[in-house]
Amino acid sequence: MHRFYLTGLAVILASSPVLAQQDAVTRGQRDFRGCMPCHSLEPDRNMTGPSLAQLWDRKAGSLESFERYSDALKSSGIIWNERSLDAWLMNPERMVPGNEMPFNGIKDDRARADLIAFLKQATKPGAQPQSAVEGRMGGMTGGMMGGGGRDPDLKSLEESMQVEAITYCHDTYRVITADGKTRAFWERNLRLKTDSGKDGPQSGAPALVPAGMMGDRADVIFAAPEEISKTIERRC
Ligand code: HEC
Repeated sequence: MHRFYLTGLAVILASSPVLAQQDAVTRGQRDFRGCMPCHSLEPDRNMTGPSLAQLWDRKAGSLESFERYSDALKSSGIIWNERSLDAWLMNPERMVPGNEMPFNGIKDDRARADLIAFLKQATKPGAQPQSAVEGRMGGMTGGMMGGGGRDPDLKSLEESMQVEAITYCHDTYRVITADGKTRAFWERNLRLKTDSGKDGPQSGAPALVPAGMMGDRADVIFAAPEEISKTIERRC
């Protein structure tokens, strides 16, 4: 009896166009995790790729705060909507030869349609900025994707991440943090990076951020390139 009733309800739910559309958006939001290492939905929060906030009806390659567009995309004349996004996401290289998005494309028609339904809702003019949604999703993928997505707040660091000094001896960096600990890294396992943007550390207060799964790798993120050699002392 029960089972009958539930099946009937499921059929009614599945056949409602509004709910079906909402399902597509939900699936699309999940698939968007594949884009998040490179794209945010927060206005002007650019990473490897430009922010996709307010993408809908925008001219390709036109976000002023993003300085790394390829000439190919800038001069493509594309306006972003359902049709153009479908072609772009199916095969970026075919649509805009010479573009610089490192992405092969999505062959599955439904997966593209879902993603576009989500993007339309999330990026049309007047859409809510997506930082809340994104933060939640970033939490789920951040560790796995490594680096691209969501770092901890580098402006107010816990002591174990606050770099006080770095020494360099033979092939080893030793990073001394504000909690008094010293961690040693093989020189090829410590990456020195900068982030001058609003997600970066305060100037003069570089951050130690674990990278990878094994605990043997980390990034030190500085506010400016000049700080790098000033912070590192050659000493054994
Ligand atoms: C590995 C990084 C990376 C991934 C993953 C990625 N993109 Fe991109 N994307 C870029 C870069 C870089 C550009 C700029 C390309 C250029 O200038 O030629 C770009 C450009 C775009 C643009 C054009 C934006 C504009 O302002 O004109 C759209 C739309 C886009 N990507 C959507 C997506 C979607 C949706 C996904 C996920 C399915 C995705 N991208 C995955 C890096 C990425």
